[in-house]
Amino acid sequence: MKLCMIGTGYVGLVSGVCFSDLGNDVICVDKDLDKIQLLQNGKVPIYEPGLSELVIKNYKNKRLKFSNDLKKSVIESDIIFICVGTPTKKGSSSADLSQVYNVAKEISKSINKYKIIVTKSTVPLTTGDEIEKILQKKNKKNKFSVVSNPEFLREGEAIRDFTYPDRIVIGSNDKRSSKLMKSLYNPLISKGAQFLLTQRRAAELIKYASNSFLATKITFINEIANLCEQTGINVEDISIGIGLDKRIGGRFLRAGPAYGGSCFPKDTKAIVSTAEKFKINLSLVKSVIKSNKDRSKLLLNRINKILNKKIRNKKITFLGVTFKANTDDMRDSSSLVMIPFLSKKGALIKYYDPTGSKKELEKIKNVSYVDSIKKAVESSDLVILHTEWNDFKSINFKSLSKRKKFIIYDMRNIYSPNKIKNQGFKYFSIGR
Ligand code: UDX
Repeated sequence: MKLCMIGTGYVGLVSGVCFSDLGNDVICVDKDLDKIQLLQNGKVPIYEPGLSELVIKNYKNKRLKFSNDLKKSVIESDIIFICVGTPTKKGSSSADLSQVYNVAKEISKSINKYKIIVTKSTVPLTTGDEIEKILQKKNKKNKFSVVSNPEFLREGEAIRDFTYPDRIVIGSNDKRSSKLMKSLYNPLISKGAQFLLTQRRAAELIKYASNSFLATKITFINEIANLCEQTGINVEDISIGIGLDKRIGGRFLRAGPAYGGSCFPKDTKAIVSTAEKFKINLSLVKSVIKSNKDRSKLLLNRINKILNKKIRNKKITFLGVTFKANTDDMRDSSSLVMIPFLSKKGALIKYYDPTGSKKELEKIKNVSYVDSIKKAVESSDLVILHTEWNDFKSINFKSLSKRKKFIIYDMRNIYSPNKIKNQGFKYFSIGR
């Protein structure tokens, strides 16, 4: 099929490349000409393991094209995916849909034959209805369908999550688009992906409900970890113990420093804001948002105690600063709360991250990037393991602390407490 992905961010580029790898003709459109030229030279502007190989392969066999001409690309395509950003509006908790509606207006001028317009970006409940109204201004209803097809891609695992999805959700209000969308996904369905066809609004809500539930699960285990710390229990035993119940499931029960990223924080706020428009109070999601927000402060109190309330001039190292491993994404990373706070308290901070230095940390006083683990930990008072990169899993701390034994605060529970303590380190972790 001929597809057009509008927006070449995490969602549009990954989905477009993977669709082309399934044999479709795909045009990825972006208004940023530099980005388009970069992609045409086989350079991928986002950190996603395995993506650049797929871009080069499919660009070479001409199934994948890049363009900044939206009109021409839409005219040539049968299915148009809207994959532009839907960030949280500044100073509010609702999603900013201006990019989505602008693209819908552009598309409405190029409907030369029947087309399916798909929202793949995470869009609030009823956005499809609004897009339909925009398109209807210039086109008769029978010349297009508006469909919701939310993505469930995790950064760092996006290609895997696209290729082996737990489920494909299509929200459509008409038979013609339902049939076409199902045939688009047939290669994945035939490999075992579950296929759910539902009404459009339901599909829009499934996305938000899914992310909000995952955020709730993480926040739940983070709060149980607080209780475990006060009662000498290992939270990992609780995660396993409850996760063995098939109704709960063992995934997303790893206690950590607070969830971050471009989705959970944004989507939890957006679903609360949407519900309020319908006079519904999602009190549980609200409490998740608050609990997660307070978590960084809770861990900072822990750091203060670990350093005997003497943070000033203490040398603190962060190993990893991104919101999780296998990504370069800093959006809503808990390090963006902790590092400025510790800097204000007079700490001298070094950080190392496998994806390099971060512009978000450049302007903060007494914070510097170092390009190796060795340099990061030497002469440190406290080493904080913030992000669970594989690079950090087998560090030989003993050999790195010849002159001075630093304290280790493992915020991802990647080390064995006994092993580290037997090497003579003071060791703290989460819920253990
Ligand atoms: C998430 C959803 O998983 C994905 O389905 C959706 O399409 C987009 O949002 P992503 O934000 O990329 O994906 O990352 P994810 O792996 O879900 O982690 C989100 C946050 O939760 C990270 O900060 C991570 O460190 C944290 N997390 C995750 C935990 O603290 N514990 C866990 O067990 C899992």
